[in-house]
Amino acid sequence: MSAAPTPAYAGPSRVFSGMQPTGGLHLGNYLGALVKFVRLQDQHECIYCVVDLHAITIEHDPKLLQQQCREVAAAYIAAGVDPKKAIVFVQSAVPAHAELAWIFNCVARMGWLERMTQFKDKAGKNAERMSVGLFDYPVLQAADILAYRATHVPVGEDQKQHLELSRDIAARFNNDYNAPNFFPLPEPLIQGPGARIMSLRDGTKKMSKSDPSDMSRINLTDDAQTIANKLKKATTDSLPLPAPDDPKRFENRPEVENLVGIFAALAAKSSDEILQEWQGKGFGAFKPALAEIASQKLSPIADEMSRLLSDANALDAILADGAARAHAISEPVMKDVRRIVGLWPR
Ligand code: TYM
Repeated sequence: MSAAPTPAYAGPSRVFSGMQPTGGLHLGNYLGALVKFVRLQDQHECIYCVVDLHAITIEHDPKLLQQQCREVAAAYIAAGVDPKKAIVFVQSAVPAHAELAWIFNCVARMGWLERMTQFKDKAGKNAERMSVGLFDYPVLQAADILAYRATHVPVGEDQKQHLELSRDIAARFNNDYNAPNFFPLPEPLIQGPGARIMSLRDGTKKMSKSDPSDMSRINLTDDAQTIANKLKKATTDSLPLPAPDDPKRFENRPEVENLVGIFAALAAKSSDEILQEWQGKGFGAFKPALAEIASQKLSPIADEMSRLLSDANALDAILADGAARAHAISEPVMKDVRRIVGLWPR
């Protein structure tokens, strides 16, 4: 990440990201985003949110939502986010998100949202019956980021289009309200071997919480036996692992590419280095080795998560402190926004 946030923006560089509390987190969330959250916190001001307002865009159980928020917050901390350094909080505890989302609703254009592929994927043929909130989801995401004038956003590759929309909204606001560089144009931080982890059953589909088959993903809370079993049953073929210098090494083998990529991301190596070690060998040996490194990385996180979740009061105190610190950053931004837009001061 470069020291200068965006060419003309003069504010400090600041990192913001979030995850939805809709079901447990999986290896894609961990390698695509969480690993970067931890890495960035030493050099940057970081704000990590649990986005419960996004979670209510689809059907949800109100009785479970608060606990699901605690689980995501516990996963952040268990994976290594230090809540004394980084700000960890729940979105609905800070009013700026919803308020700025409304203002951005009046900046964003229907055509921009109609192009969002995630809505099309989630809604399928049922777009007419989806909530307006699901359609508007990426506008709220822009508000999350820009309420803190965040400059960098660590996410997986699936969020690229949403980040482009955030930049379009920021630019349009700055332009329409004649407030040059008021909002930075946030940059996605996507690079890295874990940016796009695919399903264990189908290497052309991303690993996802919403996949009906639990065998398609490794959850952060899966135990060693479950991880080994899921990897054992993961789709592969009967050919050996290819050589790193074979130009066709992953041709028509998306599942093989995915497992090698997962191994590389977990071992903090490149896919070529993994193939160097494993070329010519079969999956009968590769899969147990992959299961071992996966449980080595994930089981301490699962243990720490359950420790954190066993003391909900302590966790809630961390989240309350995070919300107060987040509010202290976003409220001055919102004061300026209200003034720029001509709204009533508070
Ligand atoms: P969510 O909750 O779907 O996913 C959280 C993070 O995990 C990444 N991710 C993946 N990375 C690699 N491979 C995968 N298979 C995979 N699946 C998920 C996502 O890219 C994401 O970084 N819209 C966001 C939440 C959000 C947000 C924000 C993010 C709301 N406001 C502001 C950044 C900034 C989402 O749905 O994440």
